[in-house]
Amino acid sequence: MVTGGAGFIGSNFVRHLLAADPAVRVINYDALTYAGTLANLEGVDEQYASRYRFIQADICDADAVRGVMTDENVDTLVHLAAESHVDRSIAEPGAFLQTNVMGTYNLLEAAREVWKGRDDVRFHHVGTDEVYGSLEPEGYFTEETPYNPSSPYSASKAASDHLVSAWARTYGVPATLSLCSNNYGPYQFPEKLLPLMMCNALLETPLPVYGDGKNVRDWLHVEDHCRALDLIVRRGEPGRSYNIGGNNEWRNIDVVELLCDLLQKARPPKQVKHYRELITFVPDRPGHDRRYAIDAERIRSELGWTPAWQFEDGLAQTLRWYLDNQHWLDRISREKYDGRRLGLLG
Ligand code: NAD
Ligand code: DAU
Repeated sequence: MVTGGAGFIGSNFVRHLLAADPAVRVINYDALTYAGTLANLEGVDEQYASRYRFIQADICDADAVRGVMTDENVDTLVHLAAESHVDRSIAEPGAFLQTNVMGTYNLLEAAREVWKGRDDVRFHHVGTDEVYGSLEPEGYFTEETPYNPSSPYSASKAASDHLVSAWARTYGVPATLSLCSNNYGPYQFPEKLLPLMMCNALLETPLPVYGDGKNVRDWLHVEDHCRALDLIVRRGEPGRSYNIGGNNEWRNIDVVELLCDLLQKARPPKQVKHYRELITFVPDRPGHDRRYAIDAERIRSELGWTPAWQFEDGLAQTLRWYLDNQHWLDRISREKYDGRRLGLLG
């Protein structure tokens, strides 16, 4: 069972699982919030009819979770469902506490009850490097770095990580946890930096860079994240957490400029000479973490995982995907998000 399988990473993970292993059966459990859409899974139903089932339900609905886990004989639960956007968490934190904290609690309680001490099962919780807070220009997050979340989003994810560890230690739920850096790739909702910039650039509207643009993120292709999750679920040690990152640090301004240059070649603009002219510095995100960087040595040495995508190639592939799937983008943008700035105070 994959929760949040209609979102960005979840839909990539569902496709990955079904394609990688003909023995796997996937239950996609998703409430279809603004961030989830079955358009992310077009063709999956038909291609994998006997091995795939979608269930629209909320992870906060305890009866629904227990019912599905029992009826479908779930032996592995990969938990991705979450409110995931930092700016939205600043504007409206309540939904983040409800889904990320109480939703995770519900799933853990269902696992405890339905699995009743079994050890041939697995609960994998998908976490974020944002729980570690912000780094100085030097140094990396390891699995031992103390939690120090800055935003309502990361605080709610930190709480959910602690619940998972507590349910593993206290009740013996066989659980693993992963903490990943910024993902990019096909099907990312256009509120996040890269797809938002692509959408705005194609409309030749301003590209809003927060603050001085020198905040650093470690970018990882979503397919590399999916391979890492698959490995941890199969071979990770219960009770253990794994950092996942691309060893690929970029300042935001440099990423946006690279994107402008790639787009310039792929589809030259009509109203401006170069997409870079659209870059506009705007007021900073409140509580904006300066730098994230992951030390992924544990998953490399223990499970043999390394990222396969090189960033420039991955970004070009992602850009091509968005250009070729304008219908997907139009549908998402018009119906669910108009691109306006979220999460400014006052
Ligand atoms: P997303 O916002 O694209 O998708 C979230 C999915 O969860 C959607 O399909 C939504 O419908 C579903 N969902 C939300 N609330 C729900 C609820 N109450 N019940 C059932 N389903 C619900 O998110 P994403 O970017 O794919 O992130 C997935 C997970 O990975 C999250 O837990 C996030 O914290 C984590 N993560 C994301 C990144 C990243 O860069 N995107 C990096 C590290 C970790
Ligand atoms: O690090 C992992 C996290 O990465 C995940 O846990 C989150 O779910 C995911 O949303 C992402 O969080 P960020 O806050 O890093 O991602 P976002 O795309 O919102 O912003 C990336 C950087 O770009 C950040 O420094 C803020 C900046 N930014 C963002 C937007 C949307 C801009 O400068 N302009 C923008 O318009």
